[in-house]
Amino acid sequence: MSTSQAIDPDKLEATVEQVFGYLGGAVISSMIYLGDHLGLYRALADADRALTSEELATRTGLHERWVREWLRGQAAAHLIDYQGEGRFALSPEGKMVLADEHSPAFAAGGFCGLPQQFAVLERLPEAFRTGRGLPYDAFGVEGNRGVERMFAPWFRTMLVPIALPALDGVVAKLDAGAKVADVGCGAGVALIEMAKAHPRSQFHGYEISKHALTRAAANLAESGLTNVTFHDANGDALPQDASFDLITTFDCLHDMANPAPVIAAIRKAIKPDGSWLIADIKSHPTFEENLAENPMAGMMYGFSVLSCMSSALSEPNGAGLGTLGFTEELARTMTGAAGFTRFRTHDFENPMNAYYEVRP
Ligand SMILES: C[S@@+](CC[C@H](N)C(=O)[O-])C[C@H]1O[C@@H](n2cnc3c(N)ncnc32)[C@H](O)[C@@H]1O
Repeated sequence: MSTSQAIDPDKLEATVEQVFGYLGGAVISSMIYLGDHLGLYRALADADRALTSEELATRTGLHERWVREWLRGQAAAHLIDYQGEGRFALSPEGKMVLADEHSPAFAAGGFCGLPQQFAVLERLPEAFRTGRGLPYDAFGVEGNRGVERMFAPWFRTMLVPIALPALDGVVAKLDAGAKVADVGCGAGVALIEMAKAHPRSQFHGYEISKHALTRAAANLAESGLTNVTFHDANGDALPQDASFDLITTFDCLHDMANPAPVIAAIRKAIKPDGSWLIADIKSHPTFEENLAENPMAGMMYGFSVLSCMSSALSEPNGAGLGTLGFTEELARTMTGAAGFTRFRTHDFENPMNAYYEVRP
């Protein structure tokens, strides 16, 4: 390889640093995965004082030498505080982000699907050659659990108290007894949270991934709820009978190989005065705007290649929208084309998601 352009040594050094920074991010991400998977963060959070590696190893039933190396790396990455004399602790903020599954700031859960997400790297070169992507089932049950745990904190803390009351007349209908569908429901966490809060209503989840449906069945059994039903949308599709008061789609339209027929089916399934809550990834209309204004765009395009666009190209002639592909402009166009006439935007303080309230 040769280059006729002059090399700027400062820029070269900065580029090397940047690339190794990304390698560092990948490696430290894999350590966050281990900390979550092995219960190391939870054990640190449960302790009433800073722990030595021996103490943490005893509490987690692990080998001290491995725990010591992990702790040192975590302290060097500024995720865990080193307090001297071989003692390590999680700050209150670290506990919220890395250990407390019920905190709105919990982020470690999203790392649990990393091994499966990185494993598809072996299959993606073929996808680049053929054009054909991989469906969500390619990630197995654990990969689907990664998606579940990534989005669950918002469903547990914001959906029922903040988002539903902002929708026109929806809570009154749910309190009285309404029919609800969540399309692309994944592991069903959103539906289960809504069903717990509104026992008089009936909740139906539609999903094509058998692994997501397995997780949904397990979550439903654990909840003990009787007003939730999950449907395998491959053969048991959303009924086209204008019977649903509320339909939700959370972060799935951009993943769908064929979103237009799904949007048309939602139009036929919803009551004339029903409401559809769409959550999708916040993005700008053009690549240039995403490049200039979205600091997470690099990660988002990466997620797209690993999973979202891949899923959206997993069938012949897939739409291939990808992570940043379902923009507000496109949402307005596609819902309008399907016969929806009302469109309202909401901001539910989620840096990742845009929310649209769409009505016939
Ligand atoms: C990113 S996940 C989001 C899952 C869930 N809504 C959540 O927020 O946790 C996208 C989901 O859409 C599902 N999906 C894709 N195409 C679908 C379709 N045509 N009908 C129903 N679900 C679909 C995928 O299987 C996947 O579980």
